[in-house]
Amino acid sequence: MKIPFMKPPITGSEQNFFNEAWESGWHGGDGKFTKLCHEFFKQEFGIGKTLLTTSGTDALEMTSFLANSMPDKEVIFPSYTFSSTANAFVSHGATPVFIDVDRETLNLDPNLIENAITDKTIAICPIHYAGLPADMDKINAIAKKNNLLVIEDAAQAIGSKYKGRFAGSLCELGAFSFHATKSISCGEGGALTINDPTLFERAQFLWEKGTDRSLVLEGKLNKYQWVDKGSSFLPSDLIAAILYGQLQNYKELHQKRKNVFDAYTEVLKNYSHLPLNFAPIPEGYESNYHAFWILFDNIEIKEKFQQYCSDNGVVSYNHYVPLHSSKMGERVSRTASKMNVTDLAGENCIRLPMFPMNNEEIDYVRDVIDSALKNCGTKNLKTAA
Ligand SMILES: Cc1ncc(COP(=O)(O)O)c(C=O)c1O
Repeated sequence: MKIPFMKPPITGSEQNFFNEAWESGWHGGDGKFTKLCHEFFKQEFGIGKTLLTTSGTDALEMTSFLANSMPDKEVIFPSYTFSSTANAFVSHGATPVFIDVDRETLNLDPNLIENAITDKTIAICPIHYAGLPADMDKINAIAKKNNLLVIEDAAQAIGSKYKGRFAGSLCELGAFSFHATKSISCGEGGALTINDPTLFERAQFLWEKGTDRSLVLEGKLNKYQWVDKGSSFLPSDLIAAILYGQLQNYKELHQKRKNVFDAYTEVLKNYSHLPLNFAPIPEGYESNYHAFWILFDNIEIKEKFQQYCSDNGVVSYNHYVPLHSSKMGERVSRTASKMNVTDLAGENCIRLPMFPMNNEEIDYVRDVIDSALKNCGTKNLKTAA
């Protein structure tokens, strides 16, 4: 059997909503389905205001505008993330300041933040890696003490929870991605989340190409004009209709991913003697099971494991090249901590296939990874420095 790394989620209800949008005569942005999605985020996830965007990257770009990022300002990030997280701010001239991640969760290590803060810092931007939220209470407390904005890169975390609250509602600003690789997808898409009401109006201006068109729609003005920077961030209502179909079924989609995640966890638990750790769900956290990762201490074990999986038709992926050591990162960023965990993850972290699998597929991958772990845990193995 061949098990790909991912398959985009499909629920069956997207097509009807898409047809309705197609036949409505309105294919531009901010139509019926865009509004339905916005309302869904408020009602279901308790997010102050949401604006759909054409990608998670665009949503992050909007957060960068709202944070007033510019040259001579700094934003603190984990280095173990995707280029878009930092690019949004670098495009506005700000400097990314990278710190290490926590070994247990691979999320931003809050203990390293204070040391990275300077008088140029404007924001802290944690990501919710693999769908598991970062430790937001600690991050928010440090931000409050230092008068900084917090921006959650929740690209991977729609539907995940931290201490009973949903990702996207955990700080002032955030970004979701609905790219085909995500647990809820409309092909390409995203959303800006805003929980600070003082930023609502400006966000709306940015969304609509820097105009105050929203005030005309609210009946507050009779003519709109150019009032701010901005871009064409809003997606077609056809895309919003597909997303709405997915959102209706998000719990079912996440349950199917949970079945895969639980099967992996069951196998991995039997190999606690091997030098590795894997995606956890600590108490107080709920995941959307976006991804399942294994971090090996030892490159030989990792390579043997991956080779065995690949020989048996199971695709596993190495994950991020850390941003601080990437070509662009070396040119534009600075680091403010040791990067031991990030560097190790850059070499030795892999992700297993994750998509809503059927039982036969789950059983097959479970057996392959079980045999792969048996196979690679035998010889005298060197541990990474
Ligand atoms: C952590 C993170 N940030 C940002 C993005 C960018 O999202 P998109 O692909 O929708 O632009 C992604 C998606 O790949 C991501 O995983």
